[in-house]
Amino acid sequence: MKILVTYDMFREGFAELERRYEVTFPAGRDFTYEEVFERIPEYDVLCSMFDFPVDKALIDHAPRLRLIANYAVGYNNIDVAYAVGKGLTVANTPDPVTAPTANLALGLMLDTARRITECDRKLRTLRTGMKVGVLENLGMPVTGQTLGIIGMGRIGKALAKRANALGMEVIYHNRHQLHIEEETRRNVTYASKEALLATADFVSLNAPYTPETHHIIGEEELKRMKPSAILINTARGTLVDEHALVKALREGTIRGAGLDVFEFGDYPLPELLEMDNVVLTPHIGTQTTETRIVMVRAVCDNVIGFLEGDRPVSRVLRP
Ligand code: GLV
Repeated sequence: MKILVTYDMFREGFAELERRYEVTFPAGRDFTYEEVFERIPEYDVLCSMFDFPVDKALIDHAPRLRLIANYAVGYNNIDVAYAVGKGLTVANTPDPVTAPTANLALGLMLDTARRITECDRKLRTLRTGMKVGVLENLGMPVTGQTLGIIGMGRIGKALAKRANALGMEVIYHNRHQLHIEEETRRNVTYASKEALLATADFVSLNAPYTPETHHIIGEEELKRMKPSAILINTARGTLVDEHALVKALREGTIRGAGLDVFEFGDYPLPELLEMDNVVLTPHIGTQTTETRIVMVRAVCDNVIGFLEGDRPVSRVLRP
């Protein structure tokens, strides 16, 4: 069995895989698409990163390939329908991603609400020229306010738990409404997308990227939000029409945004960099050393479980 890993990563989590199979890693940087394309015909398993495109051309060029084990909960980088149609298995790593991503969403909420990064930046640059005083730098209380979660999967639920602990009201919108017992247990209330947008003080996006969720927040949705509301996105940048967001922030249609992901790749539109009411992080939802290693183990469990049948595999069943 030959396994190709597309990304540079801590090796310790891969130990069990390396003991059992022949594993190829890039050295010191990720493999490019072209490098993977050239090597893939010889491999049985591809371990891909969430930003590595596993497209039709690559799949067609991989006669031995049986498993694509993605390092992420999201798998919009993979043409899942095509892969599954060709008899391949696709796997992802939901469990280790949940808590760190929910923690970051919470961090972005608190930061934007209480203007932490903005105050830090102003103190450092303006020093004693920064306006301070009891009526300056006023923020939002968070406690007692309403969080609207779009996408009530594992991460949405983990964020709801954190928001409940802060004394927030939690409403959510999801493809499927949770069972009433689960809603009660989680202390969350279902709302239509329109009602959620009109009511929430914070709107957090926790849905996967699919053709249906493309620009789930665009000009119209931003207009439905309260002028005092804050948008948080730790999911995928393409859920938001970023040009419309820039316009909405500029015109005061909404109050602010906390963004870990961007529509056009790794970096935000330059206009966002100029805005004090925006907190930006470069897709760090799972960026802790511990999470990196636990995610590697989850990838290895998927590979070994698939090849040996001795443990569960987190299979992606549909695009
Ligand atoms: C990260 O973005 C993930 O999908 O796990």
